[in-house]
Amino acid sequence: MCGIIGYVGKKEKKKILLDGLQELEYRGYDSAGIAIIENQRLKHFKAIGKLENLREKTKKYESSNFGIAIGHTRWATHGKPTELNAHPHLGKYSFVVHNGIIENYQEIKAELQNKGITFLSQTDSETIVHLFESDYEKNRDSFQAFTNTINRLDGAYATLLITEVEEETIFFAKNGSPMLIGFSGEDIYFASSDTPIIRKATEVYYLEDGEYGYSKDGNVTLFNQEGEKSFIKKPLTTNKASAQKDSFRFFMEKEIYEQGRVMGETMMGRVLDNSINFDELEKSLFENITNIKICACGTSYHSALTGAYLLERIAKIPCQVEIASEFRYKEPLLQASTLFITISQSGETADTLEALKMAKRAGLKSLSICNVDNSSIVRESDNAILTRAGIEKGVASTKAFATQTMVLWMFTLYVAQLKKSITQEQLQTEINAMIHTPKALLVTDKLHAKLHRLSKRYLHGHGFFFIGRDIFFPLALEGALKLKEISYLHAEGYPAGEMKHGPIALADSELFTIALMPSSMQYEKIKSNVEELSARDATILAISPKPFELADDCIRTKYSSHPMLEFFEMMVATQLLALEISIRLGNDVDMPRNLAKSVTVE
Ligand code: G6P
Repeated sequence: MCGIIGYVGKKEKKKILLDGLQELEYRGYDSAGIAIIENQRLKHFKAIGKLENLREKTKKYESSNFGIAIGHTRWATHGKPTELNAHPHLGKYSFVVHNGIIENYQEIKAELQNKGITFLSQTDSETIVHLFESDYEKNRDSFQAFTNTINRLDGAYATLLITEVEEETIFFAKNGSPMLIGFSGEDIYFASSDTPIIRKATEVYYLEDGEYGYSKDGNVTLFNQEGEKSFIKKPLTTNKASAQKDSFRFFMEKEIYEQGRVMGETMMGRVLDNSINFDELEKSLFENITNIKICACGTSYHSALTGAYLLERIAKIPCQVEIASEFRYKEPLLQASTLFITISQSGETADTLEALKMAKRAGLKSLSICNVDNSSIVRESDNAILTRAGIEKGVASTKAFATQTMVLWMFTLYVAQLKKSITQEQLQTEINAMIHTPKALLVTDKLHAKLHRLSKRYLHGHGFFFIGRDIFFPLALEGALKLKEISYLHAEGYPAGEMKHGPIALADSELFTIALMPSSMQYEKIKSNVEELSARDATILAISPKPFELADDCIRTKYSSHPMLEFFEMMVATQLLALEISIRLGNDVDMPRNLAKSVTVE
């Protein structure tokens, strides 16, 4: 979702901004822009579409003296992706970039319009710059004007503002949307995540909600509601883990292939010969805990659903799963005996973060399962388990989902050990299976070629149903989500046993059913469900280690001994199916339309 970058210093600013925005590009955006003040000259450029368009527009511009600069990639929320709606937004002599949503913008906008101020865009963000200038014109105090502006805003924001009346200063504020400040000698950087400033800044400070201030003369002055405050910088990693496509056509494809390798990282030091170990967890985490609630969005919600089956069945602990955006407003009854788990690949999803804050306010212990260290969700949680998938660039999540699911499987065994709800023999069987996971995730040339061939038969039709039972139901949900995200075809995930209660009415030869038919889990049950669909002429693609004669197409998997190995192997097949269909349809696999990698608005 929207990305922010800012810089105060002597270096060439256009390059810093454009390269920084490039690093944030994978998060999804539909327009971009930059604004720079140098030698009392304010310059700005905006372009819709890809960053190349902005690079093209700024080709002849360079800025190598001391100056201040802000840049933004926008994912449209209020108003279409047009140049006028792209950030930075201009007042008369100031520019602003903003991530988040200003909930009371209509009220502020109407008030400013009544004073004769003209708005150029349809965005909520533009109110910030006009509010600032209208206050400045009254009091002629730029920092006071910025403070008053921030105090008027309801909702979520991370914002940077520059103005010709204070041409060596960047004003900043954060509430609800991520923002950090990077330091390197006299150079000061701002960004919505650390990737764009790694190897530029050496130290970092992650702003807390309610903090604001300004940067000038190589210094940062920070405030919160209590007044000026000191802050401690942390060293910034130099490990960019910057993803390259290598020989793959798309990041998503590369990330599917990487899953076997990264799973080794996820398990390292945690899966021991005969036990599961999480050094990062407090030993007291489970004291007085009787049940678990997991909260997440999108793909992470699907891994949560899978985890809940495992936790109840193996660890014998009641476990409920909630979609974060629903949880926030349902007035949930929360009990201190519940361990509250959030799952997020980005660690920045606004709904999940707010759900976590709610649970913490209610006194619950919290644990996050996340792929990004130092992200807002990790920082907010009492405990965190990092999934160690490495940077994921494809908007459609693959290896993040795989590693989340693995962490949940390991965590299940960890809880089962603590609660003594598993025998050593059962634990050993699980660990032995776990060690085989990287092999189950291997993409063979044969499998990929088969899915490539098959994909041409699945480009039309009136919809897809991915069906499965037990843990293969969340996998069906995830398979359908992958397909709809990147192919734009309608796909649903459904519990196989539920098809006869309604959706079977849709069955005909143009209804494509992707049937997940593991041999180690309820094979006979799902077989009958698929037979019912086949009897109504639905087109069946069976994914199974067993032959199934009613299938129109079949992907024969190798593993048949353990449900989780079957799960991971089938997961790869569904990911490749979505990938190949999307490529055949000519879509942008890595940056599908309308989607963002990290959704920092509710
Ligand atoms: C966005 C992404 C999805 C992701 C969801 C939750 O919608 O496009 O791939 O599953 O957010 O993100 P999170 O970072 O919290 O896992």
